[in-house]
Amino acid sequence: MRYHACPGASLAAPDRWSNMGIMTNIVFTSEEISSLETDLLVVAFDDVEKLRELSQPLAADAELMQAKAEAGKCLMLPGNGVKAKRVALVGTGLDERARNRKYSLEDAVELPGTGAHRHYAAIGVRGSKAAKVALAGNYRNAHDAIQAGVGALVAAHGTNPYQTQDSDFITDLTIVVNEDVAAECEETDAANRIETLAQAMISTIDLVNRAPNDLYPQAFASKVEEVCAQLPIEVEIWDESRLAEENCGGILGVGQGSTRQPRLVTLRYNPKNAQRHVSLVGKGITFDSGGLSLKPAASMETMKSDMTGAASVLSAVVAAAKLNSQTAITAYLALAENMPSGSALRPCDVITMRNGARIEITNTDAEGRLVMADALSLAAETDTDAIVDIATLTGAQMVGLGVRVAGVMGTSEVRDQITSSAARCGEPMWAMPLPSYLRESLTSEVAQMKNSGSRWGGMLLAGVFLEEFVADKAWAHIDIAGPSFNEGSPWGANNKGATGMAVLTLVDFLQR
Ligand code: BES
Ligand code: MN
Ligand code: ZN
Repeated sequence: MRYHACPGASLAAPDRWSNMGIMTNIVFTSEEISSLETDLLVVAFDDVEKLRELSQPLAADAELMQAKAEAGKCLMLPGNGVKAKRVALVGTGLDERARNRKYSLEDAVELPGTGAHRHYAAIGVRGSKAAKVALAGNYRNAHDAIQAGVGALVAAHGTNPYQTQDSDFITDLTIVVNEDVAAECEETDAANRIETLAQAMISTIDLVNRAPNDLYPQAFASKVEEVCAQLPIEVEIWDESRLAEENCGGILGVGQGSTRQPRLVTLRYNPKNAQRHVSLVGKGITFDSGGLSLKPAASMETMKSDMTGAASVLSAVVAAAKLNSQTAITAYLALAENMPSGSALRPCDVITMRNGARIEITNTDAEGRLVMADALSLAAETDTDAIVDIATLTGAQMVGLGVRVAGVMGTSEVRDQITSSAARCGEPMWAMPLPSYLRESLTSEVAQMKNSGSRWGGMLLAGVFLEEFVADKAWAHIDIAGPSFNEGSPWGANNKGATGMAVLTLVDFLQR
């Protein structure tokens, strides 16, 4: 019996993918903030004294309300003495941190570096339902201003594709910058960048928050075709029979327990005169039940988000193409649903991967590394300068780094390029090692390797498994198990549910 294996299926709720971009009018200005006519003025401030330089009446109100510039704290004020209807004062925590170096939002999002402006803008905008928004902060360059703009647009957007309303959009976004930065924003078309990057994040968030009965492998693949149709991106979809012809035993093995068949989607973006070729690989498990090594019910609750890597990769390629990136990109989305059934992969099974390696299955819940391995092999077969893969791969990532910081492994140069892009974008990522002694715990009695081993260093061990499939290529592996999905209350630029984390990092990496 096969349900919903239909090609060309469309999603149950409409998405804002195509129309969102044209809905916001973005301008940069060097005007006095007191004279901005807007529904909501968001001001990121270090302390009341510095606020006074920007606006006397605002500083007076802030003083009256005993506003502290604590990191991420937001104080809503009526627009007394200014033309804005409402004012959101968002603390940066900078003075406080300078005083005693205690843990602050800046530390959490920077680690260390720039990129916090996206978070401050989002905090001020979240929940306001304001159509006209102005942003002010100490934006040192176009990059800071872009970050703030993206944060505001993403925070305003509804996070649930089944509930989003038209009122969840900002119609007019004004960003206050000094004259030098305004000129830089003009020259570099920063408005277009804000729109493209925000759309990339919102598209990712939309896909991740979709129910798994709505977004299964073929539905995802059809969505990719639809999105890329108007862009210079070539899309190729391998169905189950093609996957068999191509010896993709990892993707087929993981997908065989589901009535919805697995897919491998390849995207190719080939600008003229490209100087380098980057390959991206995204984990696209549309639902991870664990398979026969079934997860407990509570652990399954968020497992619709196990395709975040694939969604992020798709959005990054789309954004890079829209921004005329000069890097050639080949991206692989490894799409499958991990389900238990009479046809499911069993612990004890031995499968043959794309690169010919035989893998003994010891835990069907370690499925991500299996689908990723085949896609990594395909990438490694090409003449690529670097491979970057991204996956909600291990619970151990959350044990090691918590739910806000992603782990990055791989060859040192690409790995460090990723963490530095991440810092610029306010997406916390931390470099982790791939100790070779761990490989021993994957030794199999019956095949080349087992798919799970020692529980210690589980995130690193998954990285060591993947390393077997990248040949001698320069490579980075990003584990976003925790940061991809926010189960708690919104914080910084992150809404509840899908966060879209890593999209900005990938685009930044592709463009540098
Ligand atoms: N998709 C999960 C990892 C995950 C867990 C992501 C929690 C987000 C939140 C992955 O497929 C998985 O189940 N990994 C196992 C591997 C283990 C069986 C070796 C894990 O981490 O428990
Ligand atoms: Mn799993
Ligand atoms: Zn998984």
